[in-house]
Amino acid sequence: MDCVCVVRSENRTRKIGVVSGETILDALIKNNVRTKYSCGSGICTLCKVELISGEVEYTRKKVNLEKIKENEVLICCAKVSSDITIHLG
Ligand code: FES
Repeated sequence: MDCVCVVRSENRTRKIGVVSGETILDALIKNNVRTKYSCGSGICTLCKVELISGEVEYTRKKVNLEKIKENEVLICCAKVSSDITIHLG
């Protein structure tokens, strides 16, 4: 299911499309939205962002969820299950 991701940052709000099967990070990169990431595999947590609304699911089993809060998401390995809103720090 293709969804909409509303991306909020300090001075801007953008809406981007997220194609079924792609990660949130892939969608951000495709739309030239700059954000931090490194390992791309759910380990380093550098890609952690605030999830304001919506549902996500993880594409990998070994995701380092111990270091993130309930309202945070690791965008490098998360796919959307609904329209979402995130805040880039
Ligand atoms: S880039 Fe390392 S956990 Fe996402």
